[in-house]
Amino acid sequence: MIQHTSLLRPILLNNGAKMPRIGVGTYLLQGELCREIVERALQLGYRHVDTAHSYENEKDIGVAIHAIERRGNISRKQLFVTTKVNRIYQHPVDVKLSLEESLEDLKSKYVDLLLIHSPWGLKNRGDGDTKPMREDGTFDCYPYDLKATWRAMEDAVHAGKVKSIGLSNFTEKLTKMILANARIRPQNLQFECHAYYQQNQLKSFCDENQISCTAYAPLGAPGKPMWHASEEDSKCKLLEDKTVLDIADKYERTPAQILLRFLLERNIAVIPKTSSVQRLEENETVFDFDLEGGDVQKLKSLDRGIRFFLFKQYSHHSYFPQKNEPF
Ligand SMILES: NC(=O)c1ccc[n+]([C@@H]2O[C@H](COP(=O)([O-])OP(=O)(O)OC[C@H]3O[C@@H](n4cnc5c(N)ncnc54)[C@H](OP(=O)(O)O)[C@@H]3O)[C@@H](O)[C@H]2O)c1
Repeated sequence: MIQHTSLLRPILLNNGAKMPRIGVGTYLLQGELCREIVERALQLGYRHVDTAHSYENEKDIGVAIHAIERRGNISRKQLFVTTKVNRIYQHPVDVKLSLEESLEDLKSKYVDLLLIHSPWGLKNRGDGDTKPMREDGTFDCYPYDLKATWRAMEDAVHAGKVKSIGLSNFTEKLTKMILANARIRPQNLQFECHAYYQQNQLKSFCDENQISCTAYAPLGAPGKPMWHASEEDSKCKLLEDKTVLDIADKYERTPAQILLRFLLERNIAVIPKTSSVQRLEENETVFDFDLEGGDVQKLKSLDRGIRFFLFKQYSHHSYFPQKNEPF
């Protein structure tokens, strides 16, 4: 377990950059609501924002950040903004394009962390369609040379447009392949991680290789679109789990606060998404209590291989993980 006081410090990446442990997730947030949530988050003390080219909300996030900067409250340097390369832009030439579009929308000269959104890419048909479909209703996948994609990520660092680079939804095997060919080692791996899917193996691998970890879906993604998970797993509501509820009662905290604190104690950054200002505040008030060892053990016992993002639409992609291979 890490010390309470060290949780207040950011996570140190392997290049010396500092990543705040709690970020605001923005998947499914767009328009006015996105602008309001990000602005309020920054006012409340969040300094880390997670977005992606494919979330189609970078313009809104740019407006929110700019509004806060203009008021002089917070400077861009104090923020940590993560974005992800669009799946249709994994060709080395297109990585630059994805990043340029993100930077323009975010109204920023750089991003703090750029991730390859997933190893499975989509065909760039040249018409701007970011979700190209085949006639059979599945995604039009494309197996880009990920070593070349990574070189383009490294070039973006050398060009000063990105401070740190990393991966998302990569298995250990694919991450090893990147490591073996990297001039710049990945600084972060973002993956699904919560009490029902604790990812101990992938986390140990990252620790051994000095790759920091970020948990997406830290609350079990209750608001995700139905098609993401299996029907059976969708019925499992992590925020309503009896063990989590009992521990929350004991500490007079909410289930979300217990789940986030549990991940933070494992030295994993969290990026919960909410569309409620009240919950924004709740989700960052997680440093003023300590979980007892027995309760941590109870939370550890919830690990049951339930994942809420299956990415079934990409399962025919040649890089898609083999059965039971964690990513
Ligand atoms: N790299 C990837 O492929 C990938 C994939 C998925 C997600 N992500 C990133 O990770 C972020 C988080 O994941 P996620 O949004 O899927 O799932 P999540 O953060 O686990 O869950 C979000 C859901 O929880 C609800 N919620 C938030 N705070 C709550 C609280 N205190 N009490 C009760 N309910 C609460 C939200 O509802 P309300 O909105 O109604 O408050 C929303 O429906 C995303 O937003 C995105 O930035 C990355």
